[in-house]
This record gives sequence, C-alpha cells and structure tokens, in this order.
Amino acid sequence: MPDRQKAKSGDGALPRVPFWKVVRAGFQINMTALPALYIVINFVSIAHGVSHGVSTYVTQLFYDSVEKALRTGAEARLVIASVLAMGAVFVGRELLNGLHNFMHQVAFTKGSGETSRRIHAKMGRIDPVCLEDTALQDLINKAQEGAFNTRYIMNLGITIFTFYLPYILFMGFYLNHLSPKFILAILCVFVPTLFGQLLKTQIIAKFEDEAAPIRRRFDFYDSTMTGREFFKETRLLGAFKMLMGRFLETCRELSAAEWKATKKENGLELVITLVSTLGWGGIVYLLVSSLLGGEITVGAFAAVFGSISTMFGVMNEAFSHLGNMAKNFGAAQNYVRFMELPERGGVKMAADKSRGIVMENVSFTYPGAASKSIDDVSLTIQPGETIAIVGENGAGKSTLVRLLTGMYKPTEGRVITRGLDTAAADGPSLFSGLTGVFQKYQRYLMTLGENVTISQPGSGEPADKALAAAGVEVAADTFPDGLDTMLSREFDGVDLSGGQWQRIAIGRGLYRDHDLVVLDEPTAAIDPLEESRIYKQFMNLSKGKTAIIVTHRLGSVKEADRVVVMDKGKIIAVAPHAQLMTSCEKYRDMYNAQAKWYEN
Ligand SMILES: Nc1ncnc2c1ncn2[C@@H]1O[C@H](COP(=O)(O)OP(=O)(O)OP(=O)(O)O)[C@@H](O)[C@H]1O
Ligand SMILES: [Mg+2]
Repeated sequence: MPDRQKAKSGDGALPRVPFWKVVRAGFQINMTALPALYIVINFVSIAHGVSHGVSTYVTQLFYDSVEKALRTGAEARLVIASVLAMGAVFVGRELLNGLHNFMHQVAFTKGSGETSRRIHAKMGRIDPVCLEDTALQDLINKAQEGAFNTRYIMNLGITIFTFYLPYILFMGFYLNHLSPKFILAILCVFVPTLFGQLLKTQIIAKFEDEAAPIRRRFDFYDSTMTGREFFKETRLLGAFKMLMGRFLETCRELSAAEWKATKKENGLELVITLVSTLGWGGIVYLLVSSLLGGEITVGAFAAVFGSISTMFGVMNEAFSHLGNMAKNFGAAQNYVRFMELPERGGVKMAADKSRGIVMENVSFTYPGAASKSIDDVSLTIQPGETIAIVGENGAGKSTLVRLLTGMYKPTEGRVITRGLDTAAADGPSLFSGLTGVFQKYQRYLMTLGENVTISQPGSGEPADKALAAAGVEVAADTFPDGLDTMLSREFDGVDLSGGQWQRIAIGRGLYRDHDLVVLDEPTAAIDPLEESRIYKQFMNLSKGKTAIIVTHRLGSVKEADRVVVMDKGKIIAVAPHAQLMTSCEKYRDMYNAQAKWYEN
C-alpha cells in the first residue's frame, strides 16, 4: 500500500484558504516539475488499487477450481491455470506497489526542487512592505513547511481517488455480483471506520488549536535557553533560572494537553475496534448463511472471508488519510497565502538622473498599523543636493527614506524620484543608480572584498577606495589575508566588532555606482567624532550626487545643504543648519544638547 509520509501541522490566524486552492497549488508544483511522470504515477496507482480487488477475485477462482476438482474428480488443469493466474496477479500487485512507492519518492524529490524555485521566485517579487507586517513575516518563514504540507495533502487526495476508490468500487461491484446483501458488509466496515476517523480528526484538531500557542511559548523559551544570541545576556543578568522555570511550565502545559487528547483518542480507538469487531461478526454470519444456503460458492466464501481484514485496513487507511489531510490543512494554507502575497509589480522605465525627488502630500500607514507613520508630507530634493533628516526615535525618518527611494509606495499622495512615479515603476528601474546603507545592515559570511563588491558584482573596481572612505584600514593584524580575509568564525575567518562591520557596510554602499545615495543611520556603533569624519568624507565623495543622510548626531549634519526636521510623522522645518539654529526651537535644543560632544 502507498507509503505515508510524515507531515507536521501548523496554525495561522490569517483568513482561511479554500481547500481547492491548496490542492491546485500542489497540483501545479507536480505538473511543472514532472508532468509525464506524474500522469504515469496516477495510472500506476489506479492499476495498483484495482490489483488488490482482482486478487480477491482470483482467490475465489482458485478455491472454486480446487473444490470442483475434489468434488467431480476433474483434471487438475483448471487448478494449475487458476494457481498461475493467482500467482501472476499477486506478483503484479507487489510490483505495482513497489513501482508506485518508488515513483512517489522520485516525484517527491523533484517536486521539492520546484517548490524551492517557486518560493524563491515569489520572494523576489513580493512587495517589500509585506515584510513590515509581523504576521506576514511569520508567513514567509512558514511557506517552505506549508509547501510540504500542500504537496502532502494533494498527494493523499489524489491517492484516495486513484488507489482507494478504484479498490472500493471494484470490491463493491464484486460483492454486489455475489449477492446484493454483501453491499451491507461493505457498509459494516465503512460506517464505523468513517465515524471513528472523523471523531479522531476532531480530537486532533482541537488539540492542535490548544497546543499552538503553548508551542510558540515553548519554542521561544527553548531558544532563550539554547540560542547563542541570548547566552551572554541571560547569564549575566541571571535570567536563566527564571526562563528555565517558564520553559518547564510550558512543557507541563503541553504534556497535559497532549495527555488529555491521547486519552480521548485511545478511548475512541477502543470503541471503534469493538464496533468493527461486531461488523466483522456480521459479515462472517452473512457469509456462512449464504454458503449454507447455496447462494455463494466455497471459493467466494474463502475469498471474501480472506479479504475482510484487507477491506478494513484499506478503509481505515483511506479515512486516516482524510484525517491527515485535515490535520495538515492549517499549515498548507500558509504556502497558498504566501504565493498570494501582493507583489511589488510596476513597469520598467528609465530614470532621469538630471531630476531630483518630489514628494507631494504623502501619507503612509504600515500594514496592520492603526495610525499614519508619515502624515501629509511634501518635500522637493534638488539633484546633487545633500539632505540630512533628523528627529526623535519613531519620528518617521526611516519610513520617509523608504518612500523617497521607492522601496515602499505611499498610501496617499505621490513620490516622483528621478522622474519615476514610485507607484508605477518597477523595483529594478527605481533602484538602478541608487545605493544605500541602512540601520539594519547585513554581515555577509564572505571575504572582506566580497562583502564590499557584492553591491555591484562584476564591476572589476577594487574595493580599497570604498573601504578607505568608510574608514576601514585593511591592516595585516585585523585582516591577515587582506581583501581575501574571510569574515566570520563559522567559516574559519576573523570576527569583527560591531563598529568594524558597520564601516564595511558603509564601504559596500559607497562601492555601488550611484547618483542617489541614502545613509539611514548606519553609524550607531561608531563614536560621534569618527562618525562626523566619515560623513564629511562621504559628502566629499558624493559631490554632484544626491545624498540623503539620517542621523541622530547633529554634529554630522552641518555640512548638509539642508536639514529636514521631523516630528510625529510630519516635517516641521526644512532649512540649512545655520538657519534652523535661529528658526527652529526643536532643532536648536537637540543641537545644543549634543554640542559638548563636538567641543575642541
Ligand atoms: N513595521 C511597522 N509596523 C507598524 N508601524 C511601524 C513599523 N515600522 C515603524 N513603524 C512606526 O512608524 C513610525 C516611524 O518609524 P520609523 O522607523 O520611520 O522612525 P525613525 O524616525 O526612523 O526612528 P528611529 O530613530 O528609531 O530609527 C514609528 O511610530 C513606528 O512605530
Ligand atoms: Mg530609523
């Protein structure tokens, strides 16, 4: 009988996906990855299902021929022929079983490749703003697992139609042909197993619902115990013991829920077995009375009697597959939801480098957020201008930058950057000639050189100049192999401090060919004076290029052509530093509070 792959279950608070969409998604994966093989598998599956039914029929022929030979003293030719037929059918059935399982394995491996390809391709098209929504972030993490569940459901569903149904139909016709009352026998098997499996599915579903939030806590506390990133802090602050206590508490909760469900499930199992045994007794009674009444032959009696356990087994398996499909449906939906996430879209257009950026009455609300993060903002940036954006935490600086670059589309109003409407142009058009370094920069586990040139692979330019501008000295004591030094302990390389990584990220941003550059506070781990030096050098380098820098350190913004002061999602002032010192109280206060850093 077909192999059953183990699958994990999942949960989600997102809207329900219709069942047919999950089946369709699984079908699309298989039909793209292995169309011919997939069609053949299904024919093999049908032949395999029917072969189990035919086995019962040839068993009857065999017993009948033996009985006839004994009764009438006829030649053994008929017996030999029926043995050969039975042998051929049994061997064929096992061959089909092996072939079916083998083909499923092949299909599974091939389909996994196609699944990854689909997920990666989709990831490239997703609207970046989706990543701001924690529920959607979670969804992206679960897509891979969900794809597994999707294919699992689809495979089980198809197998029910191509293996179990043909067998059950065959047996139905066969038993009906013997005597219509044997259909009753099928019902005796069918009804209790169906109800039993339905109830079981409900018990499992209820348990999964209860367990999902406990599991989330369990995973979190587990990670605080074993995760590298928690290690120093939890030891130093002495939080380990308390976290361990919480972890054990969730363990107990999970076990209690599981114990409750297992008890119910086993009780039910017992009832199903009792009812099934009664059903079995009923079939035996029918068989014996039909045999004694001369309604069926000895062969039919033996064949049906011998196949009762197979019928029970097959039906039980078919219904437990239905249960597994239901169990995996929650997680499978995540794949479909992921594939349906909104895409960035847009059309290819050429940017006009001679034009700056115009924002007109722009508002922006993050997905799922209650209030606007940017509220009716208008701003014009001339080409070649250096603009600094300042403001308190949460004022909307990073969001403004994401809107100016076209990473996010405005919820209201419009942004025209270098001649392109950010709501209409596609990502590659918007991002060509654009570079940036962000608050959350990346640490690539690659060489120093690769960490820089990754922003423009194949340009052939050496990385030294950009690194120097970012204040990285490629000295032998820090980088023993120069630009070829591997960064990261994981790959036998060197480990760097937060500040050093940050400078490399700045180098990477500067390396890329650009006419517009954005620095969103990539300097938090660098001391204020060094930051000031890096920004000065940066502004020298970007002469003639449009530059937008976001910083909390106001000593660095004096060189900017204009400073944008933000507060609660609005722009409250735009002017050069000197002018703001007299006209904007908020700016003057912020500057004076920091002035002592820059004395001397
Ligand atoms: N993913 C998000 N979902 C919902 N709201 C968000 C999200 N990201 C930011 N916000 C909200 O948008 C507002 C502006 O955030 P933003 O990150 O632009 O501020 P910021 O000025 O860059 O702050 P910081 O100086 O801390 O970097 C904040 O109120 C913040 O809570
Ligand atoms: Mg920010």
